[in-house]
Amino acid sequence: REGRPEVVIVDYSSPNVAKNMTLAHLRSTIIGDSLIKLQHAAGNIPFGINHIGDWGTQFGNIIYQYNKEMAERGEEFLAELNDDPTATLLRIYRDFNAATKDNQNPEAVAAAQDIFLRLEQGDAELVELWNQFRGWSLRDFGPSYERLGIEFGAIQGESFYEDKMEDTVADAVARGVLHINEDGAVVLPSQPLTEPVTGYTNDKLMLNQKGEPRDEIIVKPTGGTVYLTRDLAAVRYRSQELGADRVLYVIGKEQKVHCLELFAMAEQLGYFALGNAVHISFGHLNVDGRKMKSREGKVVLLDEILDEVVEAAEQSIVSRDTEGEIPDTERRALAKQVGTSALVFNDLRQDRQNDIEFNPDAAKTLEVGGSVYIQYTNTRLRRVIEKGGEAGPLTTVPEVLTADEKLIISEIARFPLVITEAAKTNSPHKIAGYLTQFCRTVNSFYHDTPILNAETDAERNFRLNLVSAAAQVVANASDILHVDLPERM
Ligand code: ARG
Repeated sequence: REGRPEVVIVDYSSPNVAKNMTLAHLRSTIIGDSLIKLQHAAGNIPFGINHIGDWGTQFGNIIYQYNKEMAERGEEFLAELNDDPTATLLRIYRDFNAATKDNQNPEAVAAAQDIFLRLEQGDAELVELWNQFRGWSLRDFGPSYERLGIEFGAIQGESFYEDKMEDTVADAVARGVLHINEDGAVVLPSQPLTEPVTGYTNDKLMLNQKGEPRDEIIVKPTGGTVYLTRDLAAVRYRSQELGADRVLYVIGKEQKVHCLELFAMAEQLGYFALGNAVHISFGHLNVDGRKMKSREGKVVLLDEILDEVVEAAEQSIVSRDTEGEIPDTERRALAKQVGTSALVFNDLRQDRQNDIEFNPDAAKTLEVGGSVYIQYTNTRLRRVIEKGGEAGPLTTVPEVLTADEKLIISEIARFPLVITEAAKTNSPHKIAGYLTQFCRTVNSFYHDTPILNAETDAERNFRLNLVSAAAQVVANASDILHVDLPERM
């Protein structure tokens, strides 16, 4: 890269405590992880943060309902909690919402708000309860991340900013970016918002449904904070304390206005110039027609999806292994690699803005364009290297190269440019497109060119060098896309 490496923070995954990890969180996890690898490949210093939703009024609601059920059916409730803590939290959260919707039960809503306010003020008993809830959810999310092979630089959820908001807000008010209304609320005044990537300024985003100016509440008249307050404190922290040059927010497209409001404040306060805080927006993942247990209140859905695609991979392996030669443990390990990679690659190969379909069959097909095709190409290259031994130093290059050989060389030379371009536009699908095309070229070469049986030693050695360089490129590109490469398949 030119110039000094940039510190790039990737804010991704970020599920909510005491709620489901949704398909949007799954996509955020997959895309964010790839962006981290991509930034690294581009010569930058990425740092991934899981901004979990572990703070906010919903904790007032949950604690309110928790206290109510403890009072009404203590023993029984405790047994339910013991049995499945997070599912129970989710249930009581839903019950609270059902009991208070359409303005029924305003007293309960007020009481819950009061609970959150006291939680924000540090009430020891409430903090302890909250901490317990948070721990349960983190324990639930952990194994799913492990299955996907995801590790975060930090888990700094919304609660991390509780002690940083007051100062941040006061500073923004003092500098005229936020205003204090008559009722005491602190707001971001209605204004046109600019999309950092396109530079397009939209003057309709901060209008209400009647088309009138709509201020965004940053601190409620009661002093209570909101989601955006915590993001404001976080963006300042990332600029000033973490020294980030850029920050990428991997969040579904529904939160566009939230992001643009945040970026406008960050720009006006000098934290990040416009374009250095970016919304990495993405479309929906559809699993329609499936019966998901998570819809019925199971908290972790990632497991369900992974189970299905790994199962598809295993079926495919069994159907090809007609002689039953592959031992059980090996088959299961292979199915895990093939299935997980198929899930991830099916996402990353498509432009992230698109809505995509969950497709477990991606783990079964060898067709060009899928992850199995890439994995298969890699095993071919590995076998050649295994049989041919280490390539010698490349002292001579044959005078005449085949078209495939020339193509492989020029595509290898193009790889760094593809990385730069993909990193600049935060588009893992550009790496996926490149890798697929590269594998086609490699397969054509493999099919048409004698490698170990080449006519001359010089040709043999040259081609062996080419194979090992190609294998390196396949491995590097696969790593960016989270495609695991089995030794054999
Ligand atoms: N917890 C949020 C949600 O589930 C996503 C948080 C994204 N990150 C952020 N800095 N706002 O919708």
